[in-house]
Amino acid sequence: MDRIEKLCSYLDKCTTFADVGCDHGYCTRYMLKNGLCTAAVISDISAKCLQKAETLLKGYIQAGTVKSVCCNGLEGINEDTEQVLIAGMGGEEIVSIFKNSFIPQNFVLQPMKNIRAVREYLLKNGAQITVDEPFESGGKFYFVIKGQRCGKSNNYAESQLEFGLNLSGETTKKYIKSELTKKRAYLERELKSETRLKIEEEIRFIEGVLNEG
Ligand SMILES: C[S@@+](CC[C@H](N)C(=O)[O-])C[C@H]1O[C@@H](n2cnc3c(N)ncnc32)[C@H](O)[C@@H]1O
Repeated sequence: MDRIEKLCSYLDKCTTFADVGCDHGYCTRYMLKNGLCTAAVISDISAKCLQKAETLLKGYIQAGTVKSVCCNGLEGINEDTEQVLIAGMGGEEIVSIFKNSFIPQNFVLQPMKNIRAVREYLLKNGAQITVDEPFESGGKFYFVIKGQRCGKSNNYAESQLEFGLNLSGETTKKYIKSELTKKRAYLERELKSETRLKIEEEIRFIEGVLNEG
């Protein structure tokens, strides 16, 4: 299954949906084709990227089911939108989008890197994270973070801030093992002693997480 298909399987049925940083628009097409939303907004900071989604969803735009907005992050998105998807961007970018605007009512996020920064921001700012796990596609791991803005955050252990909510999940374990392998391979290189000590400490931490799980 490809990344888009797996990502879409995390989306819920809702009334209003927004696909922020939509690019091609495939996720919005999935929502509409499957009758999972009644209205959608496609948005992107790049007019050129947005045009791809506008072409794909032309019929829905003409019918008034889809609105297209060229904007930075959530700036052009109504705060009442029931479910917002932000996928394929860096974690720092996603945090900056929230800081500039708001945390959506219900969100599905798929940060490409700096995932911990996203977790920390959500948990410090009253969001509840209900799903936070990796999936595999094309030999790579992708994390999905799903939850709600509800005013009361859940608690995360240090290991969960690093590797997600579901430490005992099969794919999470596989991901953690792959991180361990990468760090062990890194130790084979010629390193400054302080870097070596840091990596060794990280390895002990990861081994501890695997032993606990
Ligand atoms: C790699 S594509 C991901 C497309 C799609 N969401 C996916 O997951 O396949 C990232 C898209 O996010 C857009 N983007 C980056 N920063 C953005 C921001 N601050 N606000 C809106 N769109 C942004 C880019 O223009 C690009 O189209």
